[in-house]
Amino acid sequence: MNALLSERPIWFSTGPMDVEEEAQQMDDISYHRPVLVTETLELLAPRAGALIVDATCGGGGHTEEILRTGADVLALDQDPEAIEHAKERLTSYGGRVTLRQVNFRHAGEVLDQLGIANIGGALMDLGVSARQLESAERGFSVIRNGPLDMRMDPRRELTAATIINSYSEEELRRIFRDFGEEPAARRIASQLVKLRKTTAFQDTVQLAKAVEKIVGRHGRRHPATQVFQALRMEVNDELVALTEGLEVLADRLESGARIAVITFHSLEDRIVKNFFRDRSRRLLDRPEWTEPQPNPDLSLRLITSKPVEPGENEQRINPRSRSAKLRVAERI
Ligand SMILES: C[S@@+](CC[C@H](N)C(=O)[O-])C[C@H]1O[C@@H](n2cnc3c(N)ncnc32)[C@H](O)[C@@H]1O
Repeated sequence: MNALLSERPIWFSTGPMDVEEEAQQMDDISYHRPVLVTETLELLAPRAGALIVDATCGGGGHTEEILRTGADVLALDQDPEAIEHAKERLTSYGGRVTLRQVNFRHAGEVLDQLGIANIGGALMDLGVSARQLESAERGFSVIRNGPLDMRMDPRRELTAATIINSYSEEELRRIFRDFGEEPAARRIASQLVKLRKTTAFQDTVQLAKAVEKIVGRHGRRHPATQVFQALRMEVNDELVALTEGLEVLADRLESGARIAVITFHSLEDRIVKNFFRDRSRRLLDRPEWTEPQPNPDLSLRLITSKPVEPGENEQRINPRSRSAKLRVAERI
């Protein structure tokens, strides 16, 4: 256990606070409550003075905990609002933290611009922040009405409205099935294409209600959750960005430095698991080979053979943490 980490929840971890400080911390938590903080810090094991890339800064919760260990941070996020919030939150760390609004797939270019060849660790905490999810106007929520937007980076052109109103039925079926793992993908795509002929989809609740009418309500989850996840992943090109980001960050790790990745659904987790596996196997074997061959991509050592998940206490305090999975690997 990292000695600098407290067993207490992090918002009480810095000793007595004045009223203003307390109000600021409540605001930070309402922005986003970071998940698996203790586990991430323990396994990432940042060294004082090392440079850690926090590729998904969000509300700055993990960034701040890394800074508290004495490591410096290059904090990235593609959402300008997240960067603005983190900038204010982290002012007291001065030059020890550098913030950039950028997709983590371009982390290599940012490091080059800063003249940094290698890094002492990297963190990716994927998906959306609570602030993004809860801001109706960002269009991520199935229950808060807003425009069908879902762009984490507002500079991108593609929105959820464009997808839902202009993709072919086959394309919609593919993203609902592949990104949403939605069993009723075929039925939903075909009905939405019929419905949009009379009225274009513009708002989140309009779409959520249409999907609910098509598939009915089963269980506690909103029936449009998978469709919304699929649209978000398509709008933000999430799986391709993840694959590229993993490569860029893992390639920049100095020997002994670690990369920690927190995922929130099985598609992301599979990509991370396979990436770590492909880079940590010593030997490769194929039926047509007479004997196993050394793996030319060997560059990592697995730190977590199984993903680390939040304990009961964290799941109770923060229900959003329930699906979180943390995997960590070390550069050899
Ligand atoms: C779960 S939140 C991170 C929360 C953060 N760890 C904290 O403690 O507050 C995910 C963040 O990653 C950002 N993000 C997702 N994909 C990204 C990408 N490809 N490049 C940069 N930022 C990304 C989102 O905009 C969001 O702010």
